[in-house]
Amino acid sequence: GTVVLAYSGGLDTSCILVWLKEQGYDVIAYLANIGQNENFEEARKKALALGARKVYIEDVSREFVEEFIWPAVQANALYEDRYLLGTSLARPCIARKQVEIAQKEGAQFVSHGATGKGNDQVRFELTCYALWPQVKIIAPWRMPEFYNRFRGRSDLMDYAKKHGIPVPVTPKSPWSMDENLMHISYEAGILENPKNQAPPGLYTKTKDPATSPDTPDILEIEFRKGVPVKVTNTKDGTTHQSSLELFVYLNEIAGKHGVGRIDIVENRFIGMKSRGIYETPAGTILYHAHLDIEAFTMDREVRKIKQGLALKFSELVYNGTRLAFPKGHPFRFPSWPSAPILCVLLPSRLATRELWCYRLVTGKHLPSAARRVSVCLSPGFWYSPECDYVRHCISKSQEMVEGKVRVSALKGQVYILGRESPRSLYNQELVSMNVQGDYEPSDATGFININSLRLKEYHRLQSKVAAK
Ligand code: ARG
Ligand code: SIN
Repeated sequence: GTVVLAYSGGLDTSCILVWLKEQGYDVIAYLANIGQNENFEEARKKALALGARKVYIEDVSREFVEEFIWPAVQANALYEDRYLLGTSLARPCIARKQVEIAQKEGAQFVSHGATGKGNDQVRFELTCYALWPQVKIIAPWRMPEFYNRFRGRSDLMDYAKKHGIPVPVTPKSPWSMDENLMHISYEAGILENPKNQAPPGLYTKTKDPATSPDTPDILEIEFRKGVPVKVTNTKDGTTHQSSLELFVYLNEIAGKHGVGRIDIVENRFIGMKSRGIYETPAGTILYHAHLDIEAFTMDREVRKIKQGLALKFSELVYNGTRLAFPKGHPFRFPSWPSAPILCVLLPSRLATRELWCYRLVTGKHLPSAARRVSVCLSPGFWYSPECDYVRHCISKSQEMVEGKVRVSALKGQVYILGRESPRSLYNQELVSMNVQGDYEPSDATGFININSLRLKEYHRLQSKVAAK
């Protein structure tokens, strides 16, 4: 059969490519250009030399920004309070294109080089199953005949030498990296001991804040519906407006000032803790700027609800939990309820997932017509019912999130300098210490009195209990 392999050009997937051929597969290599620093033409040549019948190099960077990064910015998405989800957001974008290629090529198999211990295998495969329930997935790192043969890097090197796979002359960094337009991650190898500090030479997207410039860059970031639409550097007046260029420019400025480094221990979906170091330059600036314009324009109580949704959204993105529904489907489907479906954790059999979910929500079986709809090709990522619902609400909350935030990037930090908005809920006269505005100070006496009732009662009881 034919298999479309998500190929990176590195040692692992090169060996996998040759190994798949050895197993009798016809291999098509697919390399996503998702904004990583990579010599794509070299990779193409290499894959062909290793026996790939065809090589696809697909530029998905713009769709990555617009369809995956922007919703995360709107959400202020953070996993476990710190991780901006750079890898997690990229996986469904990469896998979606892989499915598209496999279907176009009439291949029945897809394959990837993710290990059997990580998150990426889950994200890749859930996307594939969601978009194409009948797909057959080959995950070599979970197949005994593969992992018993390749027990370490030296086995891969030996195999590479034997099969004419070019082995990098300069030994690869002693850790694993995953890069895209949004971030780069460093895990494993010498970083596995969480006590070990990252060597200074590890970082590739950001300068060391200790030696970064002493004068800041000051940026004006304009948002509309919670999405950045224009960035102006007040120093030289340059402006950037299209999604991709704007994001690339923010990466450049943030990187120059050492913005966006973190070193964390996180919980993988699979159940273990892992240590990761991440650089997310543009994402970090946007996180702070968006948070600020949102606070300025959003009602207090809406904000609280939205915060809870963002937490759920981040978890869904990290875990890769999703279901297949055609674009825009759940909210248009006549009998689909608009009830909250936030915490539906579904059984692992994907074919039964959507039925399950539907039943959980409606108490009825999914009609067979809907079953047919639900398996047709669609970008599944945002269309799990719970993810779609959450995204819908978050997007609704962003309607008024509009205006400009002025930020400074300096020495690894993002400083907010000011903001303005035609949709601001800030009322200077109301809050002013100098003007009375439409407000009666004496009203606050009653407000405090009523609020103190509960506290007085509580402490009265406390002293009564203590006296006994
Ligand atoms: N721990 C991060 C995540 O799960 C980064 C994963 C990096 N993946 C990789 N293949 N190196 O999103
Ligand atoms: C991998 O296991 O392939 C990388 C780490 C992860 O996916 O969490």
